[in-house]
Amino acid sequence: MSQIPLHVAIVMDGNGRWAKQRYLPRIAGHKKGVDALRHCVKLCVDRGVRVLTVFAFSSENWSRPADEVSGLLELLGMALQREVPKLHRDNIRVHLVGDRTAFSDSLQRGFEEAEALTAGNTSFTLNVCFNYGGRWDMAQAAQRLVAQGLPITETNLQGAMSLAHVPDPDLIIRTGGETRLSNFVLWQAAYAELFFSDALWPDFAAADLDAALTDFAQRQRRFGQTSEQVQNASSASR
Ligand code: IPE
Ligand code: IPE
Ligand code: MG
Repeated sequence: MSQIPLHVAIVMDGNGRWAKQRYLPRIAGHKKGVDALRHCVKLCVDRGVRVLTVFAFSSENWSRPADEVSGLLELLGMALQREVPKLHRDNIRVHLVGDRTAFSDSLQRGFEEAEALTAGNTSFTLNVCFNYGGRWDMAQAAQRLVAQGLPITETNLQGAMSLAHVPDPDLIIRTGGETRLSNFVLWQAAYAELFFSDALWPDFAAADLDAALTDFAQRQRRFGQTSEQVQNASSASR
């Protein structure tokens, strides 16, 4: 494949429908979703992607039934305990991205420990967005600049965003057949290529990721230029 996206971001959607199809509780779909994420990280590493950012729980998901919300928080705690040591062994850096103030002290400690443990890892970066919203991110970035007395410029905002440690996503995939962003990486999506997959997230497999990567490789990214300018620049650099 000629052109591999450096940074892939995924809205992992469809866990509830996956469970419903099997007459299982929604949380069973979320559990399967963790397995799908583990597999997807491996596939991304294998395909040469360097950064994966996943949407696991939105600012708006608090409005789900209380048992689903508490099940998701429990799952997050378990995944931190079980998965982070494995990710660390694979030289993967982990970031928990989102508004942490809503979480228990022990979860907040878990986030900090996971980040500290993996901070020096260099093969791959995994950003897990939990209690995250693109609007929250822009607002917190602006608040930070105000607190520091810095002007609200594009460059300063970019640097104050919760994903400032990675370049903007090149490719955003949403699974589950919906064609919306649902408040995910609104600022960073400015020039991302979008791909919508009908696969429900727990079913998302190598063939589904490869379909997105193949599609991405065929796109021409123009960043406001004309097609001819882009072609000339790429033949000049060859
Ligand atoms: C995505 O799957 C995971 C979360 C939002 C936590 P959903 O739970 O939204 O699955 P569907 O959309 O109901 O199938
Ligand atoms: C978006 O999915 C959030 C996550 C995948 C975590 P939702 O299922 O919450 O989005 P809507 O409600 O269908 O827009
Ligand atoms: Mg959904």
